[in-house]
Amino acid sequence: MSELSGKRALVCGASRGIGRATALALAARGASVALLARDAEGLGRVAEAIAARGGSAEVVPADLDDRDGLAATLSTRLAAGGPVHIWVNNTGGPPSGPLLNAPEAAFQAAFGRHVLAPQRILSALLPGMRAAGYGRIVNILSTSVREPIDNLGVSNLVRAAVAAWAKTLSRELPPGVTINNILPGYTDTERLGELATAAAARGNRTADAVRADWQAQVPEGRLGHPDELAAVVAFLCSPAASYVRGVSLPVDGGRLRSM
Ligand SMILES: NC(=O)c1ccc[n+]([C@@H]2O[C@H](COP(=O)([O-])OP(=O)(O)OC[C@H]3O[C@@H](n4cnc5c(N)ncnc54)[C@H](OP(=O)(O)O)[C@@H]3O)[C@@H](O)[C@H]2O)c1
Repeated sequence: MSELSGKRALVCGASRGIGRATALALAARGASVALLARDAEGLGRVAEAIAARGGSAEVVPADLDDRDGLAATLSTRLAAGGPVHIWVNNTGGPPSGPLLNAPEAAFQAAFGRHVLAPQRILSALLPGMRAAGYGRIVNILSTSVREPIDNLGVSNLVRAAVAAWAKTLSRELPPGVTINNILPGYTDTERLGELATAAAARGNRTADAVRADWQAQVPEGRLGHPDELAAVVAFLCSPAASYVRGVSLPVDGGRLRSM
């Protein structure tokens, strides 16, 4: 028996990056994984990779920015597969830029995707977790929960909101259903590549120079690999993490200075 056999997991933002690596990690530990994102073809490729390794995966295309469509998908396609025991709450971050210049629409979009959509998913999944007596919710946030990151104004704001959402829920959810946050540091994904390109354009430098600067801030001396994030998420989803509740865990190679 693998540690997650018999468990069904929903991984959001599973088409690439940290979400993809997490889906593979949970499947490798025996979970049956529902893969959610907008790009159905990308999800299909992740499902194929899981199947090629002997795992089980289903594709659940949905857009977290379309909450009514999301609700319909949750009550039909996702519900048809039975209860979900593990939910990795992950999605794309808001566009970069200072908070001072952010238009009101950016605040609304971020709140919708990062707070309102997860609240809908929680409502859909909680009855099954409660009935099973087993629930693991892991939010993929950012180290900005501890130390705001320059030029990620709306992201800093909404990550803090989700951290407060999670901490509050950790007091309200029933025993056996835990919620925790992972705070990724610089992790080598498409999102990081986009941020490097944007920072390079602003500073009249190359993206490689930006990445070198980032690496220099990390005591481990390198960017993180998505698999390194996924391994920690998988632990928090496991029975072994049953007494870990309401924490925000940086996985950042030691970059954060705050304790
Ligand atoms: N990588 C880092 O260094 C780093 C550091 C700190 C925090 N983070 C945060 O950690 C999270 C994951 O990072 P990542 O680097 O893996 O990001 P990524 O490569 O941009 O992947 C984001 C995932 O979210 C999905 N997604 C985006 N918008 C969506 C929507 N409206 N509805 C449904 N799915 C949506 C994307 O798939 P589709 O496009 O197919 O929908 C994709 O699967 C992000 O929130 C990121 O900001 C990352």
